[in-house]
Amino acid sequence: MIKKIAEIASNCKRIVVLTGAGISAESGVPTFRGKDGVWANFKPEELASVAGFMENTEIVWEWYNWRRELMEKVKPNKGHIAITNLEKLSPNFSLITQNVDGLHTIAETQNILELHGNISRNKCSVCHLIVDEKLVIDPSNIPTCKKCGGKIRPDIVWFGEMLDEQLISQAMVDSEQAEIFFCIGTSAVVHPAASLPSIAKQRGAVLVEINTEETVLTSQADYFVQGKSGEILPEIIQLVQEKKSI
Ligand code: APR
Repeated sequence: MIKKIAEIASNCKRIVVLTGAGISAESGVPTFRGKDGVWANFKPEELASVAGFMENTEIVWEWYNWRRELMEKVKPNKGHIAITNLEKLSPNFSLITQNVDGLHTIAETQNILELHGNISRNKCSVCHLIVDEKLVIDPSNIPTCKKCGGKIRPDIVWFGEMLDEQLISQAMVDSEQAEIFFCIGTSAVVHPAASLPSIAKQRGAVLVEINTEETVLTSQADYFVQGKSGEILPEIIQLVQEKKSI
């Protein structure tokens, strides 16, 4: 199956990859769902929502500081690197990620759409002005926006919030034009990201899912490769590289 996927990918001009928390699992970043997932120990609505932030501002910032400290210790794994190599081999490539850990950027993938934002970036909770300078947030003394006085928050999309219109529109266009669509390490349950694989498939793309477990998407996939993305992706990309060099 790996050989077949590599053969198809090496003949495709438009390649789109969608990633979720699973691709960062081998870097030591906890995923959200499943027995050891983040949401097994914390309530998303309390920590990753506007209401939660307004009600428990200090706790929310303590939690994000904890996650930021974790992110500073992790680095891209072979799965992230393989995606960067695939981009180098592809005439037209788009990476759409739900992850906020920034590991695809550190792995030097170029064309990235960070649908859910980036945990290391800050913005105003009222006017959404991005706060450029690196801020260390003291949860007991949260900085406020220089423009409107609103409390500063992490620049990531919380439950119930709309995604950046331009980002999701671009992601949909890329998915519609994909000839092959890789869906990697996502439970495919959070929309609108979860609708992208079906959009690609409906438009004729070959749908490849790489996951340690079956998901709601698996029945739609043309190819389902069960296993760790950090092991499977390098294998596929190595074969694509060989086919391209012939
Ligand atoms: N390789 C491939 N897949 C893996 C690996 C791995 N090494 N480890 C875990 N997985 C799979 C799991 O089987 C699961 O299907 O990764 C998926 C992770 O799913 P979630 O934890 O639900 O993460 P994700 O799909 O990215 O969540 C989407 O939900 O909480 C919100 O905004 C948050 O972006 C996140 C969104």
